[in-house]
Amino acid sequence: MYPLQRHRRLRQNSAIRSLVRETIITPNDFLVPLFVVDGKGVKEEIASMPNYYRYSLDLLENEVKELWKLGIKSVLLFVKVPDNLKDNSGTEALNPNGLMQRAIKTVKNVCPEMLVMTDVAMDPYSNFGHDGVVANGQILNDDTTAILSEMALSHAKAGADFVAPSDMMDGRIFEMRSLLEDEGFHNTGVMSYSAKYASAFYGPFRDALDSAPVDVQDVPKNKKTYQMDPANRLEAIKETQTDIAEGADIVMVKPGLCYLDIVRDIKNVVDIPVAVYQVSGEYAMLKAAAEKGWLDHDAVMMEQMTAIKRAGADIIASYFAKDVVKLIS
Ligand code: PBG
Repeated sequence: MYPLQRHRRLRQNSAIRSLVRETIITPNDFLVPLFVVDGKGVKEEIASMPNYYRYSLDLLENEVKELWKLGIKSVLLFVKVPDNLKDNSGTEALNPNGLMQRAIKTVKNVCPEMLVMTDVAMDPYSNFGHDGVVANGQILNDDTTAILSEMALSHAKAGADFVAPSDMMDGRIFEMRSLLEDEGFHNTGVMSYSAKYASAFYGPFRDALDSAPVDVQDVPKNKKTYQMDPANRLEAIKETQTDIAEGADIVMVKPGLCYLDIVRDIKNVVDIPVAVYQVSGEYAMLKAAAEKGWLDHDAVMMEQMTAIKRAGADIIASYFAKDVVKLIS
């Protein structure tokens, strides 16, 4: 009596394993989030994100050059805005000479071929830390989408290749696509954070940008009225299909690892690229466990990337991107 199937034949050495491997990670898979801060000569480590930094524009130049040399061709920009420039309508976000607008130009200047995507959201600019205008304890949808569209246009004018709205307001993709078309920015793409959950994994990112919702009367201290309930699947498909109908070029699921069932659901029904954002809390968890010697950092990191891609990610936004690319090249 023999086993009917000897599955182990395809695993017996490294050559055969390479030959039958279905999921391969390459530098082309990655989109690198970059945090930018005003000033000169600033490279500040983010306390809850070991080995991840905020850069001032002069040092951002070196970082971008290094990424390009490593074979990474896309970045996603975020800015940290000082408190005195924050208000309830994100006025500073539309400043043509604001930090984001200057950051876009800086990247394009040192590395013209680098694909520049920008975060379009009000929270880094909001004195309430919300992704929308706050009034009477509510986050106003339509007032917010009007601002977000102007923000997207401002990024496009500064030279962004893609704008990436991460706010979860309704109708923002249609409104921003229309404004970009009206203004002649036909080739500026939209990557929509289409299935973005109200996750506790965003904590370290909010430290990085000092953008957490504040605790004041009549202002909700969480984002549950606009970001999705982690308990829901069907809604993710509906949100994604809506954004595609409104003109999104790329859709996204966020966070990553805990939501890979959603990634697969979406991958099975859409015909445009699906991005996955492996968020700050996911990064922090592995860094902390590795620091304690409890997990093998590189092995776990690669297993996670493989799982994200296997689930259906065409694009991976990850703070590990540089580590991964260094490891595989
Ligand atoms: C802001 C935004 C957030 C992230 C990306 N864009 C935070 C939030 O929604 O509160 C989180 C990214 C991360 O945790 O790495 N709209």
